[in-house]
Amino acid sequence: MRAIVLHGGLSIRRELQEHVEIYAQKAIEMDTALEAVVEAVRLMEDDPLYNAGTGSNMRFDGSIQMDAAVMIPGDFGAVINIEHVRNPVLVARDVMLHSPHLILSGDGAVSFARMRGYEYYDPTTERAREKREKTIKKLKMGEISQYYHPEFFRELLGDTVGAVAFFEGEIAAAVSTGGTSLTLRGRVGDSPIPGAGIFAGDKGAVVATGIGEEIIRRMLSLSIYSRIGDDSLEKICEEEIRKFGDIPVGVIAITSEERCARSNMVMPHAIVTRD
Ligand code: GLY
Repeated sequence: MRAIVLHGGLSIRRELQEHVEIYAQKAIEMDTALEAVVEAVRLMEDDPLYNAGTGSNMRFDGSIQMDAAVMIPGDFGAVINIEHVRNPVLVARDVMLHSPHLILSGDGAVSFARMRGYEYYDPTTERAREKREKTIKKLKMGEISQYYHPEFFRELLGDTVGAVAFFEGEIAAAVSTGGTSLTLRGRVGDSPIPGAGIFAGDKGAVVATGIGEEIIRRMLSLSIYSRIGDDSLEKICEEEIRKFGDIPVGVIAITSEERCARSNMVMPHAIVTRD
């Protein structure tokens, strides 16, 4: 039996839901759980509608810094604040499989990517530029007081993309993001922090989306993972999401038996299973 769950971030845009369903169907055809989650995230990184890879949010200063991670039981790979690559998730996978390290950041992550053959690429889109300008204007006008105000998400964002998979006993998770909203250069969200935005172990895998700072404070993915088996996966995810109140957040999770997608805002997602 194989199953995959994908999410495309917190967003009300209908196209994101349509695309995520197509990508889930493609990803489930891969040979392994790891290949499936990496392929699912790669497809979303290449789709400019999502805030990951091409289409990533800009920082305050106009630069684009991206985080991505992959995790399987007992191993992990991540890149933090990587720039000028097309697919951060592929570099994160290579950190896990082809380096002695687990996490590479900034210039070091870029150098490693070049060493692995990933060429210079500019992920900037006109939409990201417009989003940044619109957001700065709203902040200046005092229309938004907190950058994680739910209103802000509704209008302007999309967030981290992610996937979790269970393929004949193999478990894997992957995430990628251009970073939530308009943040300072150098800021790190939850996605590349194991236990916060991503976790995978023998019991299953969890990936989160939403305000990274709040997700890190609550170690959301590990909080859900550590409860697997105590209750239904749906109930565990729902209870952990409820703790965030109206702070935007979502999760996808998978075990050998269950799979779920839960959020407190609209979160495009797809669940595909195959015997
Ligand atoms: N959830 C993505 C971030 O906070 O960067």
